[in-house]
Amino acid sequence: MSTMKTPRGRLSIFSVVAVVICCTLALFALLFTESITSSHSIFNFKSCSKRHVAKSRKSTRDERNAEDEVVNSEVDDRFEFDPNECSVGHGKWVFNSSFKPLYSDQTCRYLDRQFSCLKNGRPDSDYRQWEWQPDDCMLPRFNPKIALEKLRGKRLMFVGDSLQKNQWASFVCLVDSIIPQDQKSMKRGRSHSVFKAKEYKATIEFHWAPFLVESNTDNPILADPKKRIVKVDSLSKHSKYWEGVDILAFNTYVWWMSGTKVNSLWGSFANGEEGSEELETQVAYRMGLKTWANWVDSNVDPNKTRVFFTTMSPTHSKSVDWKNKDGIRCFNETKPVMKKRYWGSGSNKGMMSVVANVVEKMKVPITFINITQLSEYRKDAHSSIYVKLKKEMLTNNKQIADNSDCIHWCLPGVPDTWNQIFLAYL
Ligand SMILES: *[C@@H]1O[C@H](CO)[C@@H](O)[C@H](O)[C@H]1NC(C)=O
Ligand SMILES: *[C@@H]1O[C@H](CO)[C@@H](O)[C@H](O)[C@H]1NC(C)=O
Ligand SMILES: *[C@@H]1O[C@H](CO)[C@@H](O)[C@H](O)[C@H]1NC(C)=O
Ligand SMILES: *[C@@H]1O[C@H](CO)[C@@H](O)[C@H](O)[C@H]1NC(C)=O
Repeated sequence: MSTMKTPRGRLSIFSVVAVVICCTLALFALLFTESITSSHSIFNFKSCSKRHVAKSRKSTRDERNAEDEVVNSEVDDRFEFDPNECSVGHGKWVFNSSFKPLYSDQTCRYLDRQFSCLKNGRPDSDYRQWEWQPDDCMLPRFNPKIALEKLRGKRLMFVGDSLQKNQWASFVCLVDSIIPQDQKSMKRGRSHSVFKAKEYKATIEFHWAPFLVESNTDNPILADPKKRIVKVDSLSKHSKYWEGVDILAFNTYVWWMSGTKVNSLWGSFANGEEGSEELETQVAYRMGLKTWANWVDSNVDPNKTRVFFTTMSPTHSKSVDWKNKDGIRCFNETKPVMKKRYWGSGSNKGMMSVVANVVEKMKVPITFINITQLSEYRKDAHSSIYVKLKKEMLTNNKQIADNSDCIHWCLPGVPDTWNQIFLAYL
């Protein structure tokens, strides 16, 4: 018993030694495990000594919260961005009338019509002037030169649904502005598109896999959600595209949410689709993600490949969520929600915890691009009725509601912020 008692006088010496050891170990760990992200090691070292705490990459949220309190009482200034320390989800949108997006829907010729809101007639453009400011750190602006340097000689691939395509389009347009015309190319395919930055020998690709696992509605899409069947244990048709890619950024969420259950199929038998079974959404989602996780764990070498996962992108289809009872979905919304921690009915926390749960058990480290909370505030930033060039006037509320896309985002816009975070992690 007596050996467990530490004399008070020695405590500080012990803690100094502990700090030195912890920081040295942390630094070594970083040098070995994060050779791809070498730029962060300096900051890790600094914040470690500052706080007398060594943090592993997979620390839990509870730890983080506890530490946030320590930080708030110790330091008054926001520190330089560090992916292990800064919780990007906590912060606010700041209006900046002199902020200039790096591209517009006129200058970036790779932008889909679906995201080109101003071109399609959106009358207001304030939605482009908001900058995300995390509470406890400074998020660096997206620097296209740095982005391309990080991608030099590499393949970056966004994999997932049309929201991941939204993020891919944003990334391409963000770097596009500094690449001369003859130094780039774009090849579009039904399920796989490749943007090349020739001088950098880099590609920025998109692969369509809305559930990540296979389904009968990948290509072409089945309009009737009831006819859709998800093969929760198969993905080889998709994963063959992912092999050898240096940086993979996945997402999958909204396609699972078309009903209360998901028609699922596993195993391959001659009776084909007849063997499918309706599973609770979260159960099917877990099985699908597990299949994806197994692929990553058995195919990805974490020393060569970085894997990211973009969390669910919130939808803003119910204006009562933000107490605008006369609103027509997200139509005509021109300002973000200002209420702290606002969370609408479009994002399912249970689904989020399924992802967290599956990822927690993985061998290969996954970096979350946690966009959900910050995007929740942005009811003003969806494509709404400006998804296509307005041909006919929409005359009544029902027409407006039916034609309002409150899932996808105008570009430039919110997905630029997702990529700002993504680049900061890269
Ligand atoms: C993302 O952030 C939200 C809050 O900002 C949190 O509730 C959620 O657990 C995070 N998701 C993951 C997968 O870490
Ligand atoms: C607003 O944007 C301008 C131009 O990029 C920048 O110089 C300025 O620091 C920004 N203001 C704030 C408050 O971030
Ligand atoms: C990654 O690199 C470390 C250190 O060089 C090595 O110990 C480890 O075995 C490597 N991992 C794989 C999966 O190759
Ligand atoms: C859109 O909002 C403006 C200002 O709040 C309002 O005057 C206008 O009637 C709204 N338009 C529709 C079609 O609801």
